[in-house]
Amino acid sequence: MSDKKQQGHKRFEGKTAIITGAAGDLGSTTARLISEEGARLVLCDLPNTEPKLKQLVTELGGQGVIYICGDVSSVEDVKKSVQRGVDEFGGIDILLHCAAAITKGRLQETDDELFKKTQDVNIYGTFLMMKYVSNKMIEAGKGGVIVNVSSDAGLVGIDAIFAYCASKFAVCGMTRAAAKSLAKHNIRVCAVAPSILEGHTLENNLDVIVKMSGIQGKEQARAAMIQANPMGRFGEMREVANAMLFLSSKEASYITGVVLPVDGGKLA
Ligand SMILES: NC(=O)c1ccc[n+]([C@@H]2O[C@H](COP(=O)([O-])OP(=O)(O)OC[C@H]3O[C@@H](n4cnc5c(N)ncnc54)[C@H](O)[C@@H]3O)[C@@H](O)[C@H]2O)c1
Repeated sequence: MSDKKQQGHKRFEGKTAIITGAAGDLGSTTARLISEEGARLVLCDLPNTEPKLKQLVTELGGQGVIYICGDVSSVEDVKKSVQRGVDEFGGIDILLHCAAAITKGRLQETDDELFKKTQDVNIYGTFLMMKYVSNKMIEAGKGGVIVNVSSDAGLVGIDAIFAYCASKFAVCGMTRAAAKSLAKHNIRVCAVAPSILEGHTLENNLDVIVKMSGIQGKEQARAAMIQANPMGRFGEMREVANAMLFLSSKEASYITGVVLPVDGGKLA
């Protein structure tokens, strides 16, 4: 163990992080880990997740943690959430943007409205969060970090999730472009690109694989996916959250504009 760890050094002491999709699997896991490391938190998610957000605030001890309900694709909600963090904690140092609409269907099966809704949440929502959080970071003049969540579907075409795939490619593009314009403000912008993870969305993902591959049955799909992954398993939420924390930390101080696959070597 390093000296710093032995002395109880916490990487995010004195930092405030805003986490979207905080009621979800990845958002809540990330919230728990970064809270253990000293960060103050603004937890954001849709109004129908309020009971989960309340529970998470209680679990995390209540102090230095607030929640606010809102839709990342609503400019008013995004402005309100960001302002709430500034009012409560004096500024925002880190954005961990986990919220997403997780939709499925090939090109021909994708309903026009579903396509728009997916892009609204995943592209427009990412744009709004990055824009309004970075505005506050620039105003404060202390730099900051933004970590977005793309997907392996943001790096290779996955035809069974056409609209989602389009949106996650856009997240990579926005991450890289924003990294260039925000570097002069000492704001780093990165993304993680997980492949399929253990969690409540796994069953749905297995349905997609059954449909896409013609494999008969979910158990067979599960086995085939595991076999196809170099590490022979699905990823865990904690593994993605840890990558997000690394990218948010001082240890990553010269890293910006990267999209880091967290996929057990799937895209290697
Ligand atoms: N689970 C996986 O296998 C996997 C793989 C690759 C990428 N990802 C990505 O990881 C991120 C987290 O996914 P997860 O597995 O935790 O899913 P999840 O469904 O548990 O969490 C997503 C959260 O986003 C919230 N959300 C959806 N629309 C929103 C909106 N308009 N405004 C605010 N919040 C909204 C949901 O309420 C939910 O709590 C997503 O960006 C997803 O695309 C997940």
